[in-house]
Amino acid sequence: MKITVINGSEKHGVTYRLKEFFLEPFRGAAEITEYYLPKDCPNFCAGCTACFLQGEERCKDAAYVSAIEKSLLEADLLVFVSPVYVYHVSAAMKNLLDHFGYRWMPHRPAKEMFGKRAVIISQCLGGGVGSTVKDMRDSLSWWGVSTIKSCGFRLMNDIHWDKLPEKKRASMTKKLQKTAAKMKKINYAKPGRTGLITRGKFFAIRMLQKSVGKTNPDSLDFRYWRDNGWLGRERPWK
Ligand SMILES: Cc1cc2nc3c(=O)[nH]c(=O)nc-3n(C[C@H](O)[C@H](O)[C@H](O)COP(=O)(O)O)c2cc1C
Repeated sequence: MKITVINGSEKHGVTYRLKEFFLEPFRGAAEITEYYLPKDCPNFCAGCTACFLQGEERCKDAAYVSAIEKSLLEADLLVFVSPVYVYHVSAAMKNLLDHFGYRWMPHRPAKEMFGKRAVIISQCLGGGVGSTVKDMRDSLSWWGVSTIKSCGFRLMNDIHWDKLPEKKRASMTKKLQKTAAKMKKINYAKPGRTGLITRGKFFAIRMLQKSVGKTNPDSLDFRYWRDNGWLGRERPWK
């Protein structure tokens, strides 16, 4: 199986360690590709909207974004990891998610995302892990991913791994190992079930795209939906 990991920080701190505990059972059994931000996608989205209106290849950062996207599309399991920075994902992670705005369902979702599985890992000192997990979940779910597990932690005592109480370290490790064991048991040859919420979003946007087509048939998004057959009987899930 293939795993693609997006690290929202380059630091080898607590978030990095937690991610390593999760990946440990997969080492040797899976092909793991990791990206570290901002190194692997260093430039900010400038809001030019070229990706939405002209095509993602027109983005000034297409070389970075397309390499990461290829890996995400080929992976069986996506792992998104970020520390909490002022109640949200790191700026580097937010920047990557912004670059994938054109993959949100109202635009041009990739059919490969439907049926994929994802795990989100985050931690904070005292507060904000819920909103941070939601930052990543929002993008993943609007890309079409339905099976999303999250492991969010509050350290409470200290932000240095070695200074955390043994009990705290053990409870976080156990939760990550349990989640990894669950994810390892999955038969990745079979796509995950696309849930009702994702299907509901798809059908609402299908109606929207049908009406866009009447007034603006040259729209890139409309043509994408039409050419995929989604305005007819085709669906991105199996
Ligand atoms: C810029 C910045 C903002 C942070 N904001 C929060 C926050 O809003 N809530 C919180 O509980 N911890 C916050 N923290 C602590 C981090 O979430 C995290 O626990 C700490 O950076 C250790 O993780 P790391 O070793 O992976 O970097 C912040 C840390 C930094 C550097």
